[in-house]
Amino acid sequence: MRVDFSVFRQSLLEWFKREKRSLPWRTHPSLYGTVVSEFMLQQTQVETVLPYYANWLVTFPDFESLAKAGEAEVVKNWEGLGYYTRARNLHKLAKSICESGTPKTFDEWLNRPGIGPYSAAAISSIAQNIPEPVIDGNVIRVLCRINNDNLPIRSSTDGRKRLLPLARDLIDPDHPGDFNEAIMELGATVCRKSRPSCLLCPVKDHCQASACGNESSIPVIVRRATTRTSSSRLWLVRDDQILLHIYPEDAPRLAGLAELPQINVPKGIAPILKRTRGISTELITESIFLLDLNHPESIRCQDLDDSKWVPIHSLSTISLSGPHRRWIEALLRENLDSNIKPPRD
Ligand code: ADE
Repeated sequence: MRVDFSVFRQSLLEWFKREKRSLPWRTHPSLYGTVVSEFMLQQTQVETVLPYYANWLVTFPDFESLAKAGEAEVVKNWEGLGYYTRARNLHKLAKSICESGTPKTFDEWLNRPGIGPYSAAAISSIAQNIPEPVIDGNVIRVLCRINNDNLPIRSSTDGRKRLLPLARDLIDPDHPGDFNEAIMELGATVCRKSRPSCLLCPVKDHCQASACGNESSIPVIVRRATTRTSSSRLWLVRDDQILLHIYPEDAPRLAGLAELPQINVPKGIAPILKRTRGISTELITESIFLLDLNHPESIRCQDLDDSKWVPIHSLSTISLSGPHRRWIEALLRENLDSNIKPPRD
């Protein structure tokens, strides 16, 4: 089966026009809205992004207001979205646009801070009609299925390199932004990873994987092995204050963010809360321990420069990493005070 590019484009674009989700960056399009939404949508689902996007546009309505804001305020408004480097990069990009103007080509976007091939293609095609294909995880899946391509893909860079020629052939030169959004949307809503809805697919007739019944086994993504780590955290609350670790400004990923302090596993004590979460290919089990003020681990943390007693009433004004805020709120509801002796196991 040969893909007829113009029929493929037309079928995909007509479907997108009919079925596209109504999203704020689509109903009120602007360069700034495109940039913010594309930064937020990296590694994050649309449903999660929506409330953050709405709040962001109220707090920082344009590049100028974002460029003028302090980094702490920027990170605070990103709190809970995770991957905080994106917030700092978006801030740097706003400053760069205010100082040096708006990039006008794909390559000019690529030269700006925090912009890789995905963001450069998404922003320049959607907001500036530049015919550069986006290749994210959803697009890799669609393209591999179209070609019945079952060669292993080891990374997004690997996938991009392999699929760029096909993506360049397919993109609609007259409607590159709509085409890119449509193919991402198809991957997100129809050509899903598991149980794709081939019967609803507008480009089923062009799909070799579907014709061969291979859609569920393609693409073949080779994932790095999952690593398992664990960490122990201190719950120290007294006089309506909580001890938190504040990451210094030069910390690579979590600069300026607060978390429960890390401690060595205390002997003979059961955690008051234990949670496992995944970040990329890492599975982290976090155990939180209630220790009294005289426990050596409590004393060690109170001696550390980066730990700070934070009034509980001011927790809403500081940037806490998302899971830590949830755990802290849950534990505060239980009223656990560190002057009380912890339970023994
Ligand atoms: N994923 C990331 N950006 C997107 C967009 N603009 N439309 C659909 N899915 C997306």
